[in-house]
Amino acid sequence: MKTLLFGTNNPNKLGEIREMLGDRFQILSPADLGLDFEVDETEDSFHGNALLKARAYASAAGMPCFADDSGLETDALDGAPGVYSARYAGPGCSYADNVEKLLREMQGKTRRGARFQAVIAYIEGEEFRFFQGTVEGQITEAPRGSNGFGYDPVFQPDGYDRTFAEMGPEVKHSFSHRGKAIRALVEYLTASHA
Ligand code: IMP
Repeated sequence: MKTLLFGTNNPNKLGEIREMLGDRFQILSPADLGLDFEVDETEDSFHGNALLKARAYASAAGMPCFADDSGLETDALDGAPGVYSARYAGPGCSYADNVEKLLREMQGKTRRGARFQAVIAYIEGEEFRFFQGTVEGQITEAPRGSNGFGYDPVFQPDGYDRTFAEMGPEVKHSFSHRGKAIRALVEYLTASHA
């Protein structure tokens, strides 16, 4: 079985990937290898940050590695919060602080279109490759639902009358940005390592 490192310290993301790849690939975390560091997201794009993290962990571990970056873009705010989604309301802010700031900035805006983006960078030897997923939707006027995390309570995907936070995780990931990016990675790994 081929072994891959997933360069994340987020246990939710790790669990999700192991569920999807676990029967075909052994997925290690930085902690499994005694790698105890965070990579600062200093690039101004999801692709740049995903590659930065994948490169840092791949060179520390010397094995094939992938890492991801994701966030929410809104039309009315020229793409904000974008790559700053995790720290939109300032250093050390909570998910609730971010949601509150977003709703404040969106107050009175009639254009409510938005999208979640997820990018995965995969590195093997000298080569790297990107996998991407997007889901389009609308920012609601007020939070609804208690599932998920981050901006889920204020994001209503197109074609649904529920927010991500009003859906179960299986429904969300069947068409979410991260679900799509992970499935693209799985397809590539399965085809190239069959
Ligand atoms: P990162 O990919 O861990 O850097 O996450 C970036 C930020 O984007 C998260 O902290 C959330 O605020 C937001 N985000 C990314 N994906 C989702 C999602 O599926 N639901 C809600 N918020 C998300």
